[in-house]
Amino acid sequence: MAATIKVLMVCLGNICRSPTAEGVFRAQLQQAGLAEHIHVDSAGTSDWHVGAAPDPRSIRHAAGRGYDLSSLRARQVSAQDFDDFDYILAMDRQNLRDLEARCPPAQRHKLALFLQHGGSTHDEVPDPYEYGAESFEQVLDLVEAASRGLLELLRSRHTLLRERD
Ligand code: 4NP
Repeated sequence: MAATIKVLMVCLGNICRSPTAEGVFRAQLQQAGLAEHIHVDSAGTSDWHVGAAPDPRSIRHAAGRGYDLSSLRARQVSAQDFDDFDYILAMDRQNLRDLEARCPPAQRHKLALFLQHGGSTHDEVPDPYEYGAESFEQVLDLVEAASRGLLELLRSRHTLLRERD
């Protein structure tokens, strides 16, 4: 069996976009029978909401599509994360810049924009925090598509995952 592949989803607060990405990607992994082989977590570049549950709007909109985010709790990206994770995926360019500033050069290859993997016309997941219901739905649309793209990428890169098809 292949070693577990570890994916970290990162946004600013770890209460809207990255917990949504964690919950959606985990659900897709479970559906694909790959949850034991790919580990997913999320974190924020800021420490503003450490220990908090996802934003109630994120929980509600995700629940509307069958994803349960309620048990997730915010944490900040740590120095150890750059060692521990194989893919560290930023929701927007500012998140990516903040990660690049903290990441040791030897680990920079792990950093990317999440939507780079989504085959999407967008390259950032817009921050919904100051906006309305449509923004939270857009986050879900973008995250669902990017999660599918990421799963395909991991299958193509990691042979043992492909053999499980
Ligand atoms: P997130 O959204 O980065 O997707 O979790 C935000 C959450 C909180 C704040 C900004 C963005 N804030 O300003 O507290």
